[in-house]
Amino acid sequence: MSARARILAWVLLVVLLALAGSLLATRTVLHNQLDQRLDNEIAHETGKLRAFLASPDARPAGQPATVEAVLGRHLERNLPEKYETFFSISDGAASRRSAIEPPVRLDTDPKFVAELSRATSPAYGTVTTAVGSARYGVVPVTIEGSPGRGALVIVEFVDHAAGEINDVVGVMAAMSGAALVLAGLIGWLVAGRILAPVREVRLAAEQIGETDLSRRIEVRGSDDVAALGRTFNTMLDRLESAFAGQRDFIDDAGHELRTPITIVRGHIELMGEDPEENAETRRLVLDELGRMQRIVDDLLVLAKSGNPGFLAPGETDLADLTVETLAKSRPLADRVWRLDAVAEVKVRADGQRLAQALLQLVSNAVRHTSPGEEIALGSEVTATTARLWVRDTGEGVPPDSRSRIFDRFKRGSNSSGDDGAGLGLAIVAAIAEAHGGRVLLDTVPGEGATFTMEIPVAEGADR
Ligand SMILES: Nc1ncnc2c1ncn2[C@@H]1O[C@H](COP(=O)(O)OP(=O)(O)OP(=O)(O)O)[C@@H](O)[C@H]1O
Ligand SMILES: [Mg+2]
Repeated sequence: MSARARILAWVLLVVLLALAGSLLATRTVLHNQLDQRLDNEIAHETGKLRAFLASPDARPAGQPATVEAVLGRHLERNLPEKYETFFSISDGAASRRSAIEPPVRLDTDPKFVAELSRATSPAYGTVTTAVGSARYGVVPVTIEGSPGRGALVIVEFVDHAAGEINDVVGVMAAMSGAALVLAGLIGWLVAGRILAPVREVRLAAEQIGETDLSRRIEVRGSDDVAALGRTFNTMLDRLESAFAGQRDFIDDAGHELRTPITIVRGHIELMGEDPEENAETRRLVLDELGRMQRIVDDLLVLAKSGNPGFLAPGETDLADLTVETLAKSRPLADRVWRLDAVAEVKVRADGQRLAQALLQLVSNAVRHTSPGEEIALGSEVTATTARLWVRDTGEGVPPDSRSRIFDRFKRGSNSSGDDGAGLGLAIVAAIAEAHGGRVLLDTVPGEGATFTMEIPVAEGADR
């Protein structure tokens, strides 16, 4: 069952129950009111009879004053409603009845009449007739100076009168049914309109393959469904750029590896018989393979850098890290090696990755300085930030290159001759960012460059 049909079915069920409940309640209230009204009616008729008996009209001069005659006169004056009938009993038998034909004759039922004629005081009761149940009242009447005994019987046909109630309830039920059908139709249309964007999201999602992430959902309005559409579109934006990034990464990597492969291939194809030449070729080939190895290793680091497992954070002593990296760096080249500052603090970080980044910076510094120039390492910490830097007094980074050197495979205009691939600073940036930090460059052309990794540390780091 579709969401649309399910929602609608529930709504209609609730409305149906509410309508049925209110119809039932209305019917019950009307019936109770009717019972009350009919009892009042009997009481009222009894009152009228008493008033009549007390009035001079009951025994006009010159007319018979028997019970039968007096009750007859009362019945002549008093017309019943269509759901009522009155009749009189005189000496144990029905005698007169009101002028209007009742729904059912009770005065012709000898048992009923005999029972009522035995009443000695006003009494009420219920009787079942051919038109359903009826309320009756019987008022025994005796006339002073007249021997006979009589009674007035007032009958209210309850079920007959209830026909009106059934009519009302029937009309209400018909209207409720029509309203329900109308509500169903409108609900179906409205639900369709509301759910249309959801359907659109689903269709769009179905059409989006790995190859085509360009499709977007048309967002209208500002409701929840529109928000869903927008969220979905933002997710697609992210996916699209992630896939594009991945494609670029593979393109770049393939492109960059093609050159050393071509060189190696060319050398091997041209290998001849001369052992001296071959030894040189061998050296060149191994050199290129070493370069390829480095590129592949660096690419693997970069590829991993987006993954959650890239860092293995632990307790890292920044002083040890700085001093040990300097010690590892010294043998790399003939430079004036210095220690600028040491942060005597332990922080939570991946020490090996930080050392890897520092060594990348050192290798750059070596590449862009000459023997006798200075390379310094340092670390410091504030309440919230740890800084690790590599400073050199080399040529510095030319202004035109500063914005791009942190991108992968991007090298500065000062490095055309060397064999770098342009991955070092990308790795440094990836390691800093994985720690929630960044890399800063401070450089003056001709005077040197300082690359600083800034990473946030938990407050109250262990000094
Ligand atoms: N200390 C530095 N002094 C001057 N220029 C630098 C320095 N460090 C980096 N650069 C510039 O930044 C560019 C990018 O550096 P990066 O480390 O990313 O690549 P690379 O050193 O050329 O190659 P790789 O590190 O992959 O071997 C370098 O080509 C160079 O132009
Ligand atoms: Mg480098």
